Amino acid sequence: EAVEFGLEAPFDVEYHDSIGSTNDRARELAGEGVADLAVLADEQVGGRGRLERAWTAPSGGVWVSVVNRPTVAPAQAPLFTLAASVATARAAREAGVDARIKWPNDVVVPLDDEGAYEKLAGILTEMEGETDRVEWLVVGIGVNANIDADDLPETATSIREEAGDVDRRLFVQRLLEAFDDLRSDLESVVPAWCDLSLTLGQRVRVDRPSKAVVGDAVDVTDAGALVLETDDGRVTVTAGDCEHLRPV
Ligand code: BTN
Repeated sequence: EAVEFGLEAPFDVEYHDSIGSTNDRARELAGEGVADLAVLADEQVGGRGRLERAWTAPSGGVWVSVVNRPTVAPAQAPLFTLAASVATARAAREAGVDARIKWPNDVVVPLDDEGAYEKLAGILTEMEGETDRVEWLVVGIGVNANIDADDLPETATSIREEAGDVDRRLFVQRLLEAFDDLRSDLESVVPAWCDLSLTLGQRVRVDRPSKAVVGDAVDVTDAGALVLETDDGRVTVTAGDCEHLRPV
């Protein structure tokens, strides 16, 4: 059952001890016309990740989904996802974690100087609207906070593992404040993202639905697309799974 969270944040917060998926609940509320609300849960039993993957979300993490009703064109929607990754990385850095961003929106902790990493947080954005108008946009943010690394997938890490436990209320408040600042100044998002990027400068492979492309990640466009320098020239990719390749 939803209860008041009593948090000073730019969003109303609906809190659940346990829920299927905060994104599902946020979508439901979005459909009812709600705006600027965050659904927060201690535990998710049906957490969803990108690309139809399941998302492990035990008690102790920060599982939150924000309902937005922005007056932007659908082409700008990816900026909300990048904004969420920047806000999450900033909150994690304030907690003492060396958080960086792997394109497009995985918050990761570097393992070495060669692009290897473990995943700290992920973002799942879902939207509804017409071709020229966004009706609503749900930004789901999952942060492995006060969780033992043993309870997470092998390639993941947690704030507990990196820097010790955080006050989750304070963490959520900082995260939501940073997200609100960024979403109300969309031009600041890409420069802020670039400052935290672990992908720029790496040799990468992006697996797209069409076909994979390999190249050096050299830039990000105003809309958040990744620019690769490939053997056949520059290629801009808007979506896909990005792997950092080990230098040869
Ligand atoms: C990914 O990296 O694949 C995205 C993971 C997104 C997980 C969050 S947790 C809060 C929200 N609710 C969900 O079911 N998923 C997102």
